[in-house]
Amino acid sequence: MTPRRPPRGRPVLETDRLVLRPLTWDDLPDLEALDADPEVMRFLDRPRTADDVRDRTFARLDPAHDAMGLGYWVGLEHGRFVGWWLLTPEGPGLGEIGWRLHPWAWGRGLATEGARAVLDHGFGTVGLDRVVAETMAVNLASRAVMAKIGLRHTGIEHREWDDPLPGAEEGEWLAELTREEWLAATT
Ligand SMILES: CC(C)(COP(=O)(O)OP(=O)(O)OC[C@H]1O[C@@H](n2cnc3c(N)ncnc32)[C@H](O)[C@@H]1OP(=O)(O)O)[C@@H](O)C(=O)NCCC(=O)NCCS
Repeated sequence: MTPRRPPRGRPVLETDRLVLRPLTWDDLPDLEALDADPEVMRFLDRPRTADDVRDRTFARLDPAHDAMGLGYWVGLEHGRFVGWWLLTPEGPGLGEIGWRLHPWAWGRGLATEGARAVLDHGFGTVGLDRVVAETMAVNLASRAVMAKIGLRHTGIEHREWDDPLPGAEEGEWLAELTREEWLAATT
């Protein structure tokens, strides 16, 4: 049977060009296509199978996250699936933000536009104290999105990988934004 978990706690977020609505099980085909694309996965993982994406999607629909107003949002431009944004709980008052878009949508500021809306929701509505993000240091586009939404670079972490991706030797780029910094930038 197909699991269905209707979204409860996360509102629809709207930007100039995007409608960000909670991820649902019905988005699975779009998620599979995204994670099967080597260009999308270049700084994340090897391209993933449909079974793998299905398991991950189940975890992404965690109702406990939803109840906190956190989780995954799908971005639609004129009704077309652009990609997704996450804001997931990492501890008391702490969230992690991230994004993954189809290559056809890259380079138009859409990742930044959606990330700002999710970040504002996290601080303004959920009441988070701190939001962190990380990416491979060689992922310059993702680093640029972090910087454009105001995240401050906090360091590089070197990790051990069984099957490292090209560029892994440069480490993971870490960034964060505190509630105080967000307030200072938005008020
Ligand atoms: C990272 C990603 C979301 C960016 O999406 P996007 O819609 O192109 O992002 P935006 O247009 O909002 O901003 C991208 C910024 O990166 C910059 N950029 C892109 N490629 C770059 C590169 N190779 N070197 C330097 N800067 C780069 C752009 O110039 C832009 O900055 P600017 O507006 O100051 O010019 C998209 O590339 C993606 O989905 N990649 C695959 C998944 C992924 O890697 N996710 C992040 C994992 S942590």
